Amino acid sequence: MVRYGGNFVVVLCALIGRSVAQEQLQAGKPGNASYDYVVIGGGTAGLALAARLSASASVAVIEAGRLYEEDNGNQSVVPYYGLVMPFLATAENYPRQPLMDWDLLSTPQPAAGNRRIHYAQAKTLGGSSAINTMTYHRGTVGSYQRWADLVGDLSYTFDKILPYFKRSATLTPPNLQKRNAPNATVLYDPSVFDNQLKGPLQVSWANWVDPTQSWLARALQAVGLALSPSGFSSGKLNGGAWTQTTIDPKDATRSTSKSSYLESAIDSRRGQPTVYLHSQASKILFDKDKKATGVAVSTEGNEYVISAKKEVILSAGVFHSPQLLMLSGIGPASTLSAYSIPIIFDLPGVGQNLWDQIFFNVMRGISVPNAGTYLATPAQQAVALQQYRSNAAGPYSSAGGYISFEKLPAKYRTSLSPRTANMLSQFPSDWPEIEYITSGFPSGIANLTTIGVISATLLTPLSRGNVTILSSSISDPPVINLGWLTDPADGETLVAAFKRVRETWNSSAIVDIVAGPEIVPGATVTSDADILNFIRQSAQPIWHASSTCAMGKKDDSGAVVDSKAKVFGVKGLRVVDNSVTPFSVPGHPQSSVYMLAEKVADDILNGN
Ligand SMILES: Cc1cc2nc3c(=O)[nH]c(=O)nc-3n(C[C@H](O)[C@H](O)[C@H](O)COP(=O)(O)OP(=O)(O)OC[C@H]3O[C@@H](n4cnc5c(N)ncnc54)[C@H](O)[C@@H]3O)c2cc1C
Ligand SMILES: *[C@@H]1O[C@H](CO)[C@@H](O)[C@H](O)[C@H]1NC(C)=O
Ligand SMILES: *[C@@H]1O[C@H](CO)[C@@H](O)[C@H](O)[C@H]1NC(C)=O
Ligand SMILES: *[C@@H]1O[C@H](CO)[C@@H](O)[C@H](O)[C@H]1NC(C)=O
Ligand SMILES: *[C@@H]1O[C@H](CO)[C@@H](O)[C@H](O)[C@H]1NC(C)=O
Ligand SMILES: *[C@@H]1O[C@H](CO)[C@@H](O)[C@H](O)[C@H]1NC(C)=O
Ligand SMILES: *[C@@H]1O[C@H](CO)[C@@H](O)[C@H](O)[C@H]1NC(C)=O
Repeated sequence: MVRYGGNFVVVLCALIGRSVAQEQLQAGKPGNASYDYVVIGGGTAGLALAARLSASASVAVIEAGRLYEEDNGNQSVVPYYGLVMPFLATAENYPRQPLMDWDLLSTPQPAAGNRRIHYAQAKTLGGSSAINTMTYHRGTVGSYQRWADLVGDLSYTFDKILPYFKRSATLTPPNLQKRNAPNATVLYDPSVFDNQLKGPLQVSWANWVDPTQSWLARALQAVGLALSPSGFSSGKLNGGAWTQTTIDPKDATRSTSKSSYLESAIDSRRGQPTVYLHSQASKILFDKDKKATGVAVSTEGNEYVISAKKEVILSAGVFHSPQLLMLSGIGPASTLSAYSIPIIFDLPGVGQNLWDQIFFNVMRGISVPNAGTYLATPAQQAVALQQYRSNAAGPYSSAGGYISFEKLPAKYRTSLSPRTANMLSQFPSDWPEIEYITSGFPSGIANLTTIGVISATLLTPLSRGNVTILSSSISDPPVINLGWLTDPADGETLVAAFKRVRETWNSSAIVDIVAGPEIVPGATVTSDADILNFIRQSAQPIWHASSTCAMGKKDDSGAVVDSKAKVFGVKGLRVVDNSVTPFSVPGHPQSSVYMLAEKVADDILNGN
């Protein structure tokens, strides 16, 4: 057993003030070894699952990245930096951060300006929970009912999965004194959390409210998106709310699967996974009975095999899990044969059915400050740093803000074609079509404080993308075709949402703070064709891609795993991450990813 120590721990403690005990990772040493369970990918789902299994079994985690506290400074720790990490940019020439990011570029998207999209995915212990925007909420009752129906397993209804949501998270009520914004009312239902279960993930409300967001929230409320009485973790997504976020309120640091689940397992002393850092899985190995026996791993040039006495669990994320299945001989036979990969099982759904939510922004000048305003100069940063260090408050302590959901109101539906209207009507009645997010950044213009942003995200995408491979080697990245806007319904729905956003900007509730004409896209964009063109040229990922190894029924030709996350056609192999969610759950997925990890861990521990 090798433990981290020395300089590394000292540096970390100085940076973020954590105890040495929490950094006592049990690090794996390159070379053949054997464990009960081998988890590929120490990301959001992978570490949650590994932490639960390690309480009663030996577990190895194979993670390609290293530690974000080292590789990303305080960018993955201080909440505000989560909003401004440079490598999250989506343009093809984004600033690279190869220690943290997989450097994935999509294929050119013909229906989205032929752009290649940089799709950030974290390569680090903690996975994308270490780079996400920390918004926490759950899907709707109807969406989980749809999940249950699609996979033929009623244990996915909201009532049945609520215990797993509860088990995963601890909720801290809002600190109204630190928030210091009586006009940013927080409403929520405490009964959908249970702190006695000591869920490792920390969920709270930011200790600081962005004035820009408080004003834009008012505009959304004024056009009909009233404050939700129960918030967004009780199975309803309608209206607006100051969002829960995965921030540990005691020191206002990001709560990742690493800082929560893994560190809790370490602290518990009941057992912890052995973590192989900077170690890439290249292939899952099978015996003649098609049982997964282990994983071929490479650590800085050392190649070896980590064997699984019980099971292999693939948690490499929405793009790399289907890639690894294909490289291991599980996937569409035509693809495998094209690269001379011996076929273990012909599973045509691997890499198909990619769902992706996209958004656009409409920007106008406003005369109230935003978080960036308070961090614009070294002197202001010093003040904010003092607030942050001494009180876990101030602009550095905050990331998420105000979010709203709705099905488009009737007056915006009249322009939808019958086909689009019909397709949208197939979604459950409580599944919102659009999410609105507010934000702002310093304008850099002398007489203009803030450029305010209202974005609209499509939660009912009908376009589907796919993931495939271009060689039989792990050293080539997966080929990602996002399929954006290839179904005309998506463009129609977003054009309607665009008009709704303009109505919001025009609301009398903010007339006193809105300054000057629309900045993006600008007053010349008026016809539906112009609006659609703007959306094609500027649509961005909100990084919620899912469903490339979709869970489903055995007789469903597109399904890759069953409702216990077991891969069809082989033994001893499950996939547990956002690739198996059968569709993009409306809104932000991380709560459902943790729920799924808890649920499958329970199945495994109960011998199912
Ligand atoms: C920028 C961004 C912002 C987001 N904002 C939010 C938000 O505000 N709220 C929300 O709910 N969701 C948000 N999401 C989405 C959410 O974070 C993800 O859906 C979720 O983290 C996915 O978890 P996962 O376990 O499927 O994959 P990941 O957490 O990405 O884990 C996959 C892990 O596998 C590792 N890996 C991959 N291939 C290999 C290999 N061959 N060998 C070894 N290791 C490998 C990776 O390095 C990674 O650690 C955001 C995502 C991003 C990227
Ligand atoms: C490691 O295991 C693999 C597969 O079982 C085997 O081929 C190889 O010889 C082993 N290496 C060592 C150093 O034992
Ligand atoms: C983050 O780290 C940078 C570089 O070390 C430092 O300048 C900055 O003050 C830190 N920010 C916070 C909020 O701790
Ligand atoms: C809410 O209160 C904060 C703090 O006093 C203030 O900065 C902000 O402008 C207010 N917002 C609205 C909409 O009144
Ligand atoms: C992916 O989808 C595109 C259409 O959007 C199609 O042309 C391509 O053949 C698909 N690739 C795979 C591997 O399914
Ligand atoms: C904005 O409001 C004005 C007057 O209140 C109205 O004439 C105009 O049509 C509105 N525009 C939009 C896009 O809602
Ligand atoms: C800022 O000042 C310029 C020059 O006086 C003016 O043209 C512009 O409209 C002003 N912008 C706003 C948002 O007030």
